[in-house]
Amino acid sequence: MEEILRTEDVKRAFPVAGGDFWALKGISIVVPKPSLTILKGRSGSGKTTLLNIIGALDAPTSGKVIFDGKDISDASDKERELLRRQEIGFIFQSVALIPVMTAYENVEFALRLAGYNGDYKARVMECLKLVGLSKRASHMPQELSGGEQQRVAIARAIAHKPKIIFADEPTGELDSATSLQVISIFKDLIEKEGITFVMTTHDPKLMGYGDMVYEILDGEVISTTNNMNGGEN
Ligand SMILES: Nc1ncnc2c1ncn2[C@@H]1O[C@H](COP(=O)(O)OP(=O)(O)O)[C@@H](O)[C@H]1O
Ligand SMILES: [Mg+2]
Repeated sequence: MEEILRTEDVKRAFPVAGGDFWALKGISIVVPKPSLTILKGRSGSGKTTLLNIIGALDAPTSGKVIFDGKDISDASDKERELLRRQEIGFIFQSVALIPVMTAYENVEFALRLAGYNGDYKARVMECLKLVGLSKRASHMPQELSGGEQQRVAIARAIAHKPKIIFADEPTGELDSATSLQVISIFKDLIEKEGITFVMTTHDPKLMGYGDMVYEILDGEVISTTNNMNGGEN
């Protein structure tokens, strides 16, 4: 099993009145490449805190984050920013498309921000096709359903060919059928583009779709399920 990312005993403390609150108490996980890796757990368990750290938005208080073979635990803000811009994509629960731009323009804008080297038009259309929205390229966000908007957000996140995408509760505002559609698009992209997805969720119905599932409770991993290669651990 190849890996794209691992953490070693990652801890994160937040200063609060009267001392520190330890949101992560020593997390060691491996994210296989490519895979759909799920961080599950109820609200307040530490999923977003962990996602922000492995997504290079935040740094651990202690412990290591190894991304693509490189220790990024002590990376500077600038190094983190570069990493995010070039190698990482993000998808959030609230879709946050730019409302005055079409689906096409939203994806193209992301390519510009990333300084993508290549044919913008071809890549935008390729990404919209990958999420099944070729025919919606000229639609504005408000002309799209919630699920379609989330698919534009996926197209936008994958456009600059990141190695990994972090998705924080990407199905949190979608109904069950639409949630499954999003998961199946992730699966498709894992197969076709070799991208790895790490997503958080508290929806028990989605667990079976993860190649690797880590259950988090009170800042600790309390169970690991490896569904790759017939489920060997
Ligand atoms: N900036 C912060 N300051 C203080 N406490 C925080 C901060 N961010 C998160 N927490 C706390 O850390 C715990 C985990 O939060 P979070 O990672 O958002 O959980 P989840 O995403 O699983 O719902 C919660 O108890 C939350 O209140
Ligand atoms: Mg969260």
